[in-house]
Amino acid sequence: MKNKISIIGGGNMGTAILSGIQRKFAVSICEKDAKRGQYLKKKFKVAVDDVQSVVTKSGVIILAVKPQDFDQILAEVRPFINKDKLVISIAAGIPTLYIEKRLGAKVRVIRTMPNLPAQIGEGMTGICKGKWASSADLSLACKIFNNIGQTVIVEEKWIDAITAVSGSGPAYVFLFVECFIKAARALGFDEKQSKQLVAQTIHGSLNLLESQNEEAGVLRSRVTSKGGTTQAAMDVFFRRDIEGIFVEALTAAQHRAKQLSK
Ligand SMILES: NC(=O)c1ccc[n+]([C@@H]2O[C@H](COP(=O)([O-])OP(=O)(O)OC[C@H]3O[C@@H](n4cnc5c(N)ncnc54)[C@H](OP(=O)(O)O)[C@@H]3O)[C@@H](O)[C@H]2O)c1
Repeated sequence: MKNKISIIGGGNMGTAILSGIQRKFAVSICEKDAKRGQYLKKKFKVAVDDVQSVVTKSGVIILAVKPQDFDQILAEVRPFINKDKLVISIAAGIPTLYIEKRLGAKVRVIRTMPNLPAQIGEGMTGICKGKWASSADLSLACKIFNNIGQTVIVEEKWIDAITAVSGSGPAYVFLFVECFIKAARALGFDEKQSKQLVAQTIHGSLNLLESQNEEAGVLRSRVTSKGGTTQAAMDVFFRRDIEGIFVEALTAAQHRAKQLSK
């Protein structure tokens, strides 16, 4: 029999998870916004119901609401949670201990940190377990999140660092693309040409990296002949300490994740 999973919160992330897992699991969803609920019901042919119904019927409950709605959702699900249920949270900054305390004794909790490309099945999700969850629970969580990309199991102390690398990471990539396009425009290309030149360069380079089984540095050196054009650009990047900028930025993100943690 298919595992029964309920998703509470049908926003960006809840919908991404729903769309990835609906063919493999029996999924029901709970969504506060009735219009959105109807849309999800129609689009994905899933059961949309209230908290009590979806939690009672499911063995796995995925909490996919914003951190500011989290206390309320914990209070709502608490009466229907027991040790037979596995609770999976995707909320940023909310530790397993916080959830365990609010849901009562020995509740099995898994905490995850997915990222935005989950929306197209290309996500990267960090997964850790709370005190009462088992390694079988971790495996089940991986099985679920592998449907929206890749997963990595870590101890909870690493989740802030995961947030800094892969959680926030898509924004670093988008920033890089923005800067690259602006620089192409500064050389005189129009918007359309700049976008095409940059997008295909990035697409091709990433595919090359993936297919060649070589370190990025090795491939970079293949494009960079001594005293040539690429070298001139690399000299600017390194003079401005691109490596240092990355370390500083990721450290700041990790620090902020720690600060925001409940
Ligand atoms: N977006 C990302 O890149 C990302 C990455 C990693 C982790 N996360 C985590 O994922 C979680 C969800 O983020 P999101 O971007 O998907 O947020 P979102 O689009 O706002 O989705 C949350 C959904 O839950 C609904 N909701 C709120 N309270 C509810 C309740 N009591 N019962 C049922 N439904 C309820 C909201 O409805 P209303 O709009 O009507 O309130 C909304 O549709 C957050 O905790 C965030 O930290 C997000």
